[in-house]
Amino acid sequence: MSEPLVDSFGRVHNNLRISVTDRCNIRCFYCMPAENVQFMPRADLLSFEEMERFVRICVGLGVNKVRLTGGEPLVRKDLSKLVAMIAAIEGIHDIGITTNGILLAEQAQELWDAGLRRINVSLDALDPVKFKEITRREGYEKVLEGIQAAQRVGFDPVKVNAVSVRGMTESEIVPFGEFARKTGAEIRFIEFMPLDADNAWERDKVLFAHEIIERLSAEIMPLIPIPDQNPHAPATEFVFQDGVGRIGFIASVSQPFCMNCDRFRITADGKVRNCLFSLEETDIRGLLRGGGTDSQIAEAVRSSVAAKWEGHQINTAKFIQPNRPMYSIGG
Ligand code: 5AD
Ligand code: SF4
Repeated sequence: MSEPLVDSFGRVHNNLRISVTDRCNIRCFYCMPAENVQFMPRADLLSFEEMERFVRICVGLGVNKVRLTGGEPLVRKDLSKLVAMIAAIEGIHDIGITTNGILLAEQAQELWDAGLRRINVSLDALDPVKFKEITRREGYEKVLEGIQAAQRVGFDPVKVNAVSVRGMTESEIVPFGEFARKTGAEIRFIEFMPLDADNAWERDKVLFAHEIIERLSAEIMPLIPIPDQNPHAPATEFVFQDGVGRIGFIASVSQPFCMNCDRFRITADGKVRNCLFSLEETDIRGLLRGGGTDSQIAEAVRSSVAAKWEGHQINTAKFIQPNRPMYSIGG
């Protein structure tokens, strides 16, 4: 392996997130517009072979963890084939997926068989009416079935990502706490970030992690921080005092973890982004399709990471929302 991927703040990057499609079968308001979404033309999407080549090149730069994202990754045809192709790459120790769970019951077994071991399911409400209000689509029961199917085939723990929005998801906090205790799924509350297609994010709409901790502690029982956590994991994890029920918090707004960030991304149309909130990206598809050599591609990744900024500026007046919303970046 050559030099690791390091930026000017000394952060080593070993964690690659691959968005496999920008398409999605629901329309979460904090991500997509309600209607008339402009999806990428299919010819612009990287093929599995292109992704596999890119991952191999990144492994040469020290990448050993991959997560597949979307849009909704499970709408990409034959996704488990991609999982198997990536799992077969020597040097990849860890493959995960972040899915909305709608197609998970159908695919959980084949994903497991292909070598996938980590699943995060996005589910923001346990109340079906609230689910529909947030996602603007049906599918609540399918998501719950998906979580159960994933647990049945062996994914452990299944993590559930719940975006927290003030004025909207307060009613879900305690039910999620109980859900974690009952099912063994780990619930991770994520602060609402300014990545929505409708540009409706406001700081006042962020329901902060500390408020949720207080609520769960008061209404269920005290939450105890789990010792010796991986500093590169975005979530701070807690367990209820009696040892039953794990809860994580991704406090991207109130406590950004930028200084411990070890990840970079490639979008479904083949652009490398060194941050969720980047305003610039590096074209890899052009190199992949235009005769670029492995070392040219490696150099492009290296320069993108080297140019990474200190962190997002959500909490300052300087913040500029990227013009790609979440579904076309990949969460
Ligand atoms: N703020 C916070 N989280 C978001 N996600 C999507 N959009 C946003 C946003 N604006 C979450 C999804 C998913 C993960 C990829 O990111 O719910 O769990
Ligand atoms: Fe789809 Fe995920 Fe965006 Fe929701 S957050 S609309 S599930 S891509």
